[in-house]
Amino acid sequence: MKVLVLHGPNLNLLGTREPGVYGRLTLAQIDRTLRDHARRRGDSVECRQSNHEGQLIDWLQAARREGFAGVVFNPGAFTHYSIALRDAVAAIRLPVVEVHLSNVHAREEFRRHSVIAAVARGQISGFGARSYLLGLDALASSSRRPMPRR
Ligand code: DQA
Repeated sequence: MKVLVLHGPNLNLLGTREPGVYGRLTLAQIDRTLRDHARRRGDSVECRQSNHEGQLIDWLQAARREGFAGVVFNPGAFTHYSIALRDAVAAIRLPVVEVHLSNVHAREEFRRHSVIAAVARGQISGFGARSYLLGLDALASSSRRPMPRR
């Protein structure tokens, strides 16, 4: 199974960005861990980061055509207000797992709402870099089972 991992805005700064909230691992370190984790299972991941909403939308739209079986997506702050990203996730007919390093429900009020969650397969939040690993596992196990009814 080939999985696309998308990181949204400001996640390129991981390692130095608010380490008390997001940890000290850099994005490159997280991506390496994800690739190793997938490879051990015979899967593969491709990791991309953008600070731009339109770029993320283009990648989501192309994901199926590029042969990805699903997407692990950390939309960063776009989580809380990007209807355009929400519509892209709803449109693409691929399972998308929303992930967050921090527990967005235990932070400021404005982070408690995700416009993405309702169209994602599920949401994983609060486990640091492990949220991405859990996201990969969730995607792998849920894509081997039939889609739950909504
Ligand atoms: C985040 C949480 C968002 O609220 C924030 O804007 C981010 C990172 C996380 O991974 O915890 O940029 O998505």
